[in-house]
Amino acid sequence: MRGPNALVPAYRGEVRSHCLWGCDFRIVVLASGSGTNLQAILDTLHGQGLVEVVGVGSDKPGAGALERGRRAGVETGIFPAGEYEDRAARDKAIGDWIESCQADLVVLAGYMQLLSAPFVARFRNRVVNIHPALLPSFPGLDAIGQALAAGVETTGVTVHFVDEGVDTGPAIAQREVPVPPGVSRADLEAAVHAVEHELYPEAIRMIAEGRVRIDPSDPRKVAIE
Ligand code: GRF
Repeated sequence: MRGPNALVPAYRGEVRSHCLWGCDFRIVVLASGSGTNLQAILDTLHGQGLVEVVGVGSDKPGAGALERGRRAGVETGIFPAGEYEDRAARDKAIGDWIESCQADLVVLAGYMQLLSAPFVARFRNRVVNIHPALLPSFPGLDAIGQALAAGVETTGVTVHFVDEGVDTGPAIAQREVPVPPGVSRADLEAAVHAVEHELYPEAIRMIAEGRVRIDPSDPRKVAIE
């Protein structure tokens, strides 16, 4: 049985000089949609001494998330699919931009594009995603619709590291959401989103505090200190 000392921090952010006097943990958020999760991160974490949102990137020039980023004074980056030869070229450009932002962590918040294997490898253990179900149940698109169709009594939210699969990376935090009999889709979506807006900032805070650790001999094992 391995003790916690066998675990390594989940990210390998380099120590930058300004970290000597109270370090901001720098995150880039990628989003394709309205960005309510981004807003929750901006409202509860950004600029309060621990976490700094240093970039908001999107594949959709009209994404509400970009406007939320601009309103918060955060740098934005737009990477529409049509402007690149292929996904690899676009992911290289996104990765270069993330590095130019000196980000410690990449936070996917409704980013509706698959990230290529070289991107995942470039930012290994430094990309997280939020999924509206209790993974491994209901991966992929329309997780809330999948839960309603399956008739489950409980669904939930998962924050997980991103690996090369679709919603297959190791879980960092999960929280249940009850599915009352006959609940409407709109009401269940609202309940799930409300939990997302609490859980994602909590999980990012734990990572920023260095409390989320991955076992180097089994990267699927995540421990919270
Ligand atoms: C969330 O439901 C999240 O779980 C999923 O995409 C949605 C993004 O919503 N990955 P928003 O743009 O943050 O409102």
